[in-house]
Amino acid sequence: MFSTHNFQGSPLTHQPSSPQTWSQRFTGTLHPAIATFNASISFDIALIEYDLTGSQAHAQMLAHTGIITDGERDQLISGLESIRHEYRRGDFCPGIALEDIHLAVEKRLTELVGDVGKKLHTARSRNDQVGTDIRLYLRHQIDEIRQQLGQFQTVLVEQAEQSVETIIPGYTHLQRAQPISLAHHLLAYFEMMQRDWERLGDIYRRVNVSPLGACALAGTPFPIDRHYTAQLLEFQDVYGNSLDAVSDRDFAIEFLCAASLILVHLSRLAEEIILWSSQEFHFVTLTDRCATGSSIMPQKKNPDVPELVRGKAGRVFGHLQALLVIMKGLPLAYNKDLQEDKEPIFDGVSTVKTCLEAMTILMGEGIVFNRERLGMAVTEDFSNATDVADYLANKGVPFREAYNLVGQVVRTCIASGKLLKDLTLEEWQAVHPQFDPDIYTAITPRQVVAARNSYGGTGFNQVRQALITARTRLADNNQTLLKRK
Ligand code: ARG
Repeated sequence: MFSTHNFQGSPLTHQPSSPQTWSQRFTGTLHPAIATFNASISFDIALIEYDLTGSQAHAQMLAHTGIITDGERDQLISGLESIRHEYRRGDFCPGIALEDIHLAVEKRLTELVGDVGKKLHTARSRNDQVGTDIRLYLRHQIDEIRQQLGQFQTVLVEQAEQSVETIIPGYTHLQRAQPISLAHHLLAYFEMMQRDWERLGDIYRRVNVSPLGACALAGTPFPIDRHYTAQLLEFQDVYGNSLDAVSDRDFAIEFLCAASLILVHLSRLAEEIILWSSQEFHFVTLTDRCATGSSIMPQKKNPDVPELVRGKAGRVFGHLQALLVIMKGLPLAYNKDLQEDKEPIFDGVSTVKTCLEAMTILMGEGIVFNRERLGMAVTEDFSNATDVADYLANKGVPFREAYNLVGQVVRTCIASGKLLKDLTLEEWQAVHPQFDPDIYTAITPRQVVAARNSYGGTGFNQVRQALITARTRLADNNQTLLKRK
């Protein structure tokens, strides 16, 4: 991949564009700084493989419809293939003078195959060409991101499978609320990632529509076959309106929205790991595989990985915002503003991918749950108070009345430095005659968790069922992705 640095700012790259880049209408040359300003080659080189594939399909269609001969088609297709090889070898390094990847490829093609190269752009424009390239690129990236989501979900399920009986404090308002199974907590993230997986699948359908053949904005007088190129490029559908085809970036906004939600989810888990690894919580210990030290404080082990994920979320939200603003109020059809879609899309893609990879490693081998500490944590609080109220309610005491009674009990316990389990049966019965010795089992963390056996609750049976469902979903997801290949 070329670094932006090579293309921007360096005096070497301020080559004047040749007047021949444009039609004979131009006699002068572009100001070198404007040439640099105008060019997108420093970043749209990332589209090269898709550009070549799109152009090969276009050449095939031109022959299929009799616009060029089969011999010309073969020359164009093999010339484009040679550029692919040059690029993969690292020998294709177009400079600023060629403006963008589309012009750079056409120029090189003509050098390689001669004048026939100049026929490639018949019945096409860079406007439908760039739209085709981005869609091919995003389609591919969505598949890769969905695969990564699957890997992350797998690690979550693996951790959850080992943690069904590990009880942790559950929080609301970051205050101890009720004890829960650690597996239940981890599976909440599995569910978020499943929605992300499905959302990307839904967006894929709208990415997978061909704009090719819409040309500059209005279609073409040539007898092209847009369905033929769509079929060659495995697009599911073809844009029905040429203006919409070249100016639509809804699918990219949708993608960045889905990417933002992935980062919302990852950053929430990241934040929990940061909290959990603090001395105050001490629920997890970071392994040396994923933790970093301080250059001054020798005792420190820092959660840089989740912190970076939390921070990188901002970049992706920014890209979404950027694209929304680029599109807002843009008149039909193509405008050069649209060139600004690429960097947000590319960086959005790579940020999501690197964050997913890092979080998968972190959850797989970067943290160790301090199970003993977790076990202790849930015995030293009042997170079983609801269960005392539920106990009375089960015996016919109206819930609100039971709730008030338990509130009083908690208050006296706090005043006397006791926990609920420390109260004698006499003390319980003084609160309400319905208390029996079984109150002590009812308020053990294990029983408190097990009792929440309502559908989707943290009860161990529910969690075991949820794990089975999660495994089935993972298998179904894999099947769906495999079918696409
Ligand atoms: N580099 C341009 C982009 O990324 C390609 C399309 C340019 N079309 C044009 N008519 N200037 O949007």
